Amino acid sequence: MLRVNKLIRLLYFSTAEARLSPAEVDEIVAHAARKNKGLGITGALAYNGRNFCQVLEGDEEKVMALARVIEQDPRHSGFKIIDQKKISSAHFADWSMQRVRDLDFSTVINAMQA
Ligand SMILES: Cc1cc2nc3c(=O)[nH]c(=O)nc-3n(C[C@H](O)[C@H](O)[C@H](O)COP(=O)(O)O)c2cc1C
Repeated sequence: MLRVNKLIRLLYFSTAEARLSPAEVDEIVAHAARKNKGLGITGALAYNGRNFCQVLEGDEEKVMALARVIEQDPRHSGFKIIDQKKISSAHFADWSMQRVRDLDFSTVINAMQA
């Protein structure tokens, strides 16, 4: 049977574990970029020193499965999905996971309008 993959884009917010160091955030992004590449997932992660804001794009089942894994990660808490929608193409097609460094969450939030 022909299976047509459904692409989705998901946006969530969470609160970083209090003792998380900048080096540990870099490690999260590096590991995410490697693993997402294998899953065909793209997106961006913003961190303002306290909160995370992340967009994940890709096959619906893979994105939802990854979101469930991320939700359980003890390096943050208060995981809350803000928006989730079907898309026809990825906004962050070239980024398996890109850190947004300017403390500006707008890049990921505005991407939900794409
Ligand atoms: C804020 C945050 C964002 C994360 N984003 C991703 C991600 O995009 N992709 C990913 O594979 N893991 C991400 N992780 C890590 C996962 O929670 C989990 O540790 C990782 O996927 C496990 O990888 P493994 O299967 O190689 O052990 C993130 C963790 C945190 C705290």
